[in-house]
Amino acid sequence: MEPMLSTADLPPPPVHVAIIMDGNGRWAKARGLPRTAGHKRGAEAVRRTVEAAREMGVSYLTLYAFSSENWKRPAGEVTDLMGLLRLYLRNEVNNLHKNGIRLKVIGDRNRLGADIVRLIEDSEAKTAGNTALTLLLALSYGGRQEIVEAARSLARDVAEGRISPDSIDEESINARLTTAGVPDPDLIIRTSGEQRISNFLLWQGAYAELVFQDTLWPDFGRNELEAAIRDFHGRDRRFGTAR
Ligand code: IPE
Ligand code: IPE
Ligand code: MG
Repeated sequence: MEPMLSTADLPPPPVHVAIIMDGNGRWAKARGLPRTAGHKRGAEAVRRTVEAAREMGVSYLTLYAFSSENWKRPAGEVTDLMGLLRLYLRNEVNNLHKNGIRLKVIGDRNRLGADIVRLIEDSEAKTAGNTALTLLLALSYGGRQEIVEAARSLARDVAEGRISPDSIDEESINARLTTAGVPDPDLIIRTSGEQRISNFLLWQGAYAELVFQDTLWPDFGRNELEAAIRDFHGRDRRFGTAR
């Protein structure tokens, strides 16, 4: 008999997977639908992907849902995206909690509506004790803006005499990013065929493996996540060494 391939035979999954969820607009356009229809289907792909990541044993999943630059989109699209976000937070948190998932939102909350900030705070508080998977949602997130904030915070500490400039190191910068306490991403996936980072996890992704897939985000699911992780396992991560 053929030996069964059990999950015990597979290498452990990457600890931290991050995804640039791109292609909702093109998915909708290809079907003659408004862009919002693509974003709606994108939210379903989020559900599938979170579930699959948890089942595969990923510890941290970061999803890039809205960038600092996405505020430049037409007001109607921004409103629709914020509406979907509200729906997701209202409808999905009980499900996340039931599955042992901790939710954490990274990005600039000052630009989000007060009601959304409250929903985020409630969701984070409710799920804070969960340990199966940490889901980081990047909202109004920009890597450069995040580094600027860290620089400001360090400058204030220096100006007020709490630290000396020479004590600033990678660790003190890490501690001032919105991802403080989260290990760097091992794998960054981008869908829709675009091959760029678009201001995502600039500092944290210094040594991430990059996987680009042609699949449009609304079509993403377990198979695509598994394929990306297979790619990841085929890579030789050297971190600058001569290994
Ligand atoms: C990703 O899909 C969702 C967000 C950036 C909010 P897009 O809306 O960027 O879709 P395309 O790139 O136009 O196809
Ligand atoms: C990146 O996608 C941001 C998110 C997926 C949230 P964009 O569609 O905004 O990126 P560009 O404009 O193609 O670089
Ligand atoms: Mg796009």
